Amino acid sequence: MKWRSLPAGTVAIATGVIFFLSAIGAPGAPAAMASVVEHTFVVRQVKMTHLCKETLATVVNGQFPGPAIEVTEGDSVTVHVVNQSPYNLTIHWHGVKQRLNCWADGVPMITQCPILPNQNFTYRFNVAGQEGTLWWHAHVSFLRASVHGALIIRPRRGASSYPFPKPYKEVPIIIGEWWDMDLLKADWGIQQHVIDPYFNASTINGKLGDLYSCSGAVEDGYLLDVEPGRTYLLRIINAALFAEYYLKIAGHKFTVVAADANYVSPYTTDVIAIAPGETMDALLVADADPGRYYMVALPNQSPLPDPQGPTLITRGIVQYSNKQRAADGGGRPSSDIAVSPEMPDQHDMITSFYFHGNLTGLHHPQHLEVPKHVDERLFITLGLGSICRGGQSSCKRSENNESVDVATMNNFSYQQPAVATPLLELHYYNTDNCVLSMLQELPDKPPRVFNYTDPALILPGPKEAKLEPTSKATIARRFRQGAVVEVVFQGTAILSSESNPMHLHGHDMFVLAQGEGNYDATRDVPRYNLVNPAVKNTVFVPRLGWVAVRFIADNPGIWYMHCHFEFHVSMGMVALFIVEDGSTVDTFLPAPPADFPTCGHDHNVMSNEFYPI
Ligand code: C2O
Repeated sequence: MKWRSLPAGTVAIATGVIFFLSAIGAPGAPAAMASVVEHTFVVRQVKMTHLCKETLATVVNGQFPGPAIEVTEGDSVTVHVVNQSPYNLTIHWHGVKQRLNCWADGVPMITQCPILPNQNFTYRFNVAGQEGTLWWHAHVSFLRASVHGALIIRPRRGASSYPFPKPYKEVPIIIGEWWDMDLLKADWGIQQHVIDPYFNASTINGKLGDLYSCSGAVEDGYLLDVEPGRTYLLRIINAALFAEYYLKIAGHKFTVVAADANYVSPYTTDVIAIAPGETMDALLVADADPGRYYMVALPNQSPLPDPQGPTLITRGIVQYSNKQRAADGGGRPSSDIAVSPEMPDQHDMITSFYFHGNLTGLHHPQHLEVPKHVDERLFITLGLGSICRGGQSSCKRSENNESVDVATMNNFSYQQPAVATPLLELHYYNTDNCVLSMLQELPDKPPRVFNYTDPALILPGPKEAKLEPTSKATIARRFRQGAVVEVVFQGTAILSSESNPMHLHGHDMFVLAQGEGNYDATRDVPRYNLVNPAVKNTVFVPRLGWVAVRFIADNPGIWYMHCHFEFHVSMGMVALFIVEDGSTVDTFLPAPPADFPTCGHDHNVMSNEFYPI
């Protein structure tokens, strides 16, 4: 494609253009070719009307959700991003390991300069050694609410090589949010603690559904037509910013077969719990009586005294193709009324705890063994805290106006470094002393031991007040190439008791164990699943509980590690994991791609600072 020679102002939208590279595969295997799959993503604002209100939504190629990228394991992906929006942005390929390719990870001022309005950037990466459902999203501020889409990787040997019965059809189910507020303003409001932004509706594949209406006219809902007896593979993605969701379909069960593009032992359940950043592949067998069944997605939230948001449920419909026939001749009740599932309570956190705890990895040819030996151990508390406005060291806290609430790891709230060059470039060109001077080491453990999950800490009070003061810094942790790292994420109750879906870029994590309350190594290490743990890029830290993970730091580069609740990112629940180079070609970070842009003067714009204090 003659990308670069296009006259200014014209944009060719190549959707899924495929070039064949070469045949790969074992002799005798069906000839599968690795290809280059090429897309053009034009990001711009389009008018969309929901709930009686016209909104300028920032989307890719005019679509919400954006286009799905569908590839085969081993393919290369090229995406030309054309930024016609008024915002700086980058795109992150969530869950793609980007082995030796941190340059394409899409984190502004860490791996690249943000793509400024009216500029372009081309991402090139491969999806070797991964199969399943991943996704892509903007990695700037709240923009990912509308700038996201599925990234589906199919096995090179075809659908018959799935470690489960071959589905009749595959269906992406993207749970998201509809916002009529300016997304940058929402982000700013949370950082400054001046407004409490909230979305207006939940969505399934961009549709709000019939629980929402505008002067009597109900919103469109997502409709899935099924044929009786067939099996469907639902590729479920939670692209929402604010909540974990419960997903149910009346009269049906799911068999979960993969999570975060890693196969799991088949797990049959009538409810799926999916937190922001997670993906779940689940088989749905159309084995109910012909009819119409609601598919309901309900956002859960921690109970009072945590702050409460409105309950914005969304629903679509699963409809059997033989419904009419059966109703006419089969003597079944003929009705258009769809059956509703019974949903968990919005404050039910236990269903999610068990759902996540029931996922185990599947032994199959590509699965990795859990390393038994650990080189580095981190115990990381997650929670809220506060810093004084205007850099003061003391001030009135506990939700007083003199302080701002922030989100922390081991009492540090992440601060974007004030650099004009992305950190990865500084690191690569051996200006590490310069990088190091900007960073604060993320400590191995919190500054003090306390009863982390004491519910008395949720509301401001004397106990809580002692724990609240925190500081801001660019927190980072360096790992030697190949180090086996064990992290225990401990949720805390300080000012809020939310769960935290923790996402690590560039690596998958083995989920060894989870528990309620405080982690206790003597009691909990013997419970580690070292045999078949689930492998995830986003690990769910339960409300007032903990989770223990292990990963191998073998992908050189600088990787974001953060909570996938967007308000927690804005508030600073982020750290950088720096994986050092090794000494062999497959363990050190190659030079940036030849056409990698350097930041212009206007590039020391860290983020979209449209809303100064
Ligand atoms: Cu899906 Cu750093 O994010």
